[in-house]
Amino acid sequence: MTDLNHPKGLAIVTGASRGIGAEYARALGNRGYPLLLVGRDEERLQQVGENISRDHRVAVTVKCLDLAQAEAAHQLFVTAQQCNTHMAILINNAGFGLYGTFTDMPMSRIRAMLQLHITTVVESTRLFLPHMIERQSGAIINVASVAGFLPIPYMAEYAATKAFLISFSESLAEEVHTSGVTIQACCPGFTETEFHTTAGYRPRNPLRAQTAEAVVQASLSGLDRKQRHVTIGWQGWVSDIFSRFLPRSMVVRIVGKQVKPRTPHTSSPSVST
Ligand SMILES: NC(=O)c1ccc[n+]([C@@H]2O[C@H](COP(=O)([O-])OP(=O)(O)OC[C@H]3O[C@@H](n4cnc5c(N)ncnc54)[C@H](OP(=O)(O)O)[C@@H]3O)[C@@H](O)[C@H]2O)c1
Repeated sequence: MTDLNHPKGLAIVTGASRGIGAEYARALGNRGYPLLLVGRDEERLQQVGENISRDHRVAVTVKCLDLAQAEAAHQLFVTAQQCNTHMAILINNAGFGLYGTFTDMPMSRIRAMLQLHITTVVESTRLFLPHMIERQSGAIINVASVAGFLPIPYMAEYAATKAFLISFSESLAEEVHTSGVTIQACCPGFTETEFHTTAGYRPRNPLRAQTAEAVVQASLSGLDRKQRHVTIGWQGWVSDIFSRFLPRSMVVRIVGKQVKPRTPHTSSPSVST
């Protein structure tokens, strides 16, 4: 069993300046973990870090880092090594959404998403995991999404990156299952954070959102039970039922109708960078 109640190593949380990442940081601080918190917004990161170290009396290191840059995983790893304690938990949480017609998306945003959700996560896992295996303990949580369960028109690249994360996490979890290391794909549904504002997407029924706290509570209690896949919220169950009983092409059409932007758009013929 992954012992999260004993202060025995560093917990690294990416995207800790707000939302789900800040909640992971608070919950792990509460469990006595020294923390390395990563994001780009230094002021908010500092604020989150100061509150946690005041409330839970744990050491908090804050690192301002754009994880959508090449070499970010390496910088993260070097920073973690400088914290002078072994690496117990890595939460790959940083992410953002893109909403709209694919051909209207700036290429620079698509590239940043692929780097942040895929390349940096894979490279970080490759760097941190051997140390955990060597110690025969540790955990990596990759925050995916129920958006990874099905193709989603108008969020095509977001859904595809999250599908990658689910597959990657579950495959690795099986590879390392006798090593003492737990790998979890955390798949929240619609959660109250700034995510939707950043993505430019206003969900049609915002009343059915869960809190970031509920996501983290489910994820960490799942980790205590070595759960490799945690789904949080009603959207996961709906996707599951849809895909069991309806042909995939029909499900994608229904999802596309739900998600399609209401305002007419003009599709640009070229993709900007
Ligand atoms: N909210 C939902 O409904 C929902 C549902 C399913 C899955 N998720 C997933 O949950 C994760 C957290 O999202 P959230 O809902 O908490 O959204 P959020 O409130 O917008 O927080 C996103 C976090 O990611 C960080 N981040 C974004 N780009 C970054 C970059 N290039 N480098 C470093 N950090 C970066 C942000 O920090 P800075 O701005 O300081 O860099 C922020 O701390 C994401 O992976 C998202 O896909 C969210």
